[in-house]
Amino acid sequence: MTEVNDLAFGQPAEGKLVENLRKNPKFIHELSLVAEADGKIVGHVLFFPIKIKPAEGKEKETISLAPVAVLPEFQRQGIGGELIREGLKACEKIGYDSVIVLGHPEYYPKFGFEPAEKWRITDPFGAPSEAFMAVELKEGSLEGSGGVAEYPDEFLEV
Ligand SMILES: CC(C)(COP(=O)(O)OP(=O)(O)OC[C@H]1O[C@@H](n2cnc3c(N)ncnc32)[C@H](O)[C@@H]1OP(=O)(O)O)[C@@H](O)C(=O)NCCC(=O)NCCS
Repeated sequence: MTEVNDLAFGQPAEGKLVENLRKNPKFIHELSLVAEADGKIVGHVLFFPIKIKPAEGKEKETISLAPVAVLPEFQRQGIGGELIREGLKACEKIGYDSVIVLGHPEYYPKFGFEPAEKWRITDPFGAPSEAFMAVELKEGSLEGSGGVAEYPDEFLEV
């Protein structure tokens, strides 16, 4: 898994992030999905629990999609899309009603993601606002849940 991330991103940060998150007690095994071809792992996606903290009131539990990676020679064959769609289903199955992603603004809308600012959800990384996106797995689940998304420290270390 680390190798897939290293090769897809061309740098060690995301692979290291996956390694570190796997050691976190909140890691959910069913939400680390791999794609296999030719008897080897060619793709990987991880979802990790996060919170949305409003200025006041109750926190909202949600989950972040990050990272997703497909080996360069296996890209553009639908593997990334399949991992994401299966992953979203797995998140719903274990009870999550929304997912957040920081990523390519041209890629994620095809899976239903929209800019998170629609729900007044802001990211702690200062990324361009169109790159910070969310999707409701249950209609209306993000209504009134504006606030800052709070990620575990592992994300801030990379
Ligand atoms: C992003 C990634 C996971 C997509 O995996 P994939 O298996 O190639 O994706 P799919 O085959 O399901 O989808 C490919 C489609 O998405 C589009 N796409 C892929 N990467 C894209 C990007 N960075 N921005 C916009 N569109 C992108 C392609 O144009 C392609 O569309 P087309 O088939 O109509 O030409 C893969 O390219 C990857 O590992 N990239 C490097 C790591 C990375 O950037 N991860 C995402 C971080 S947010």
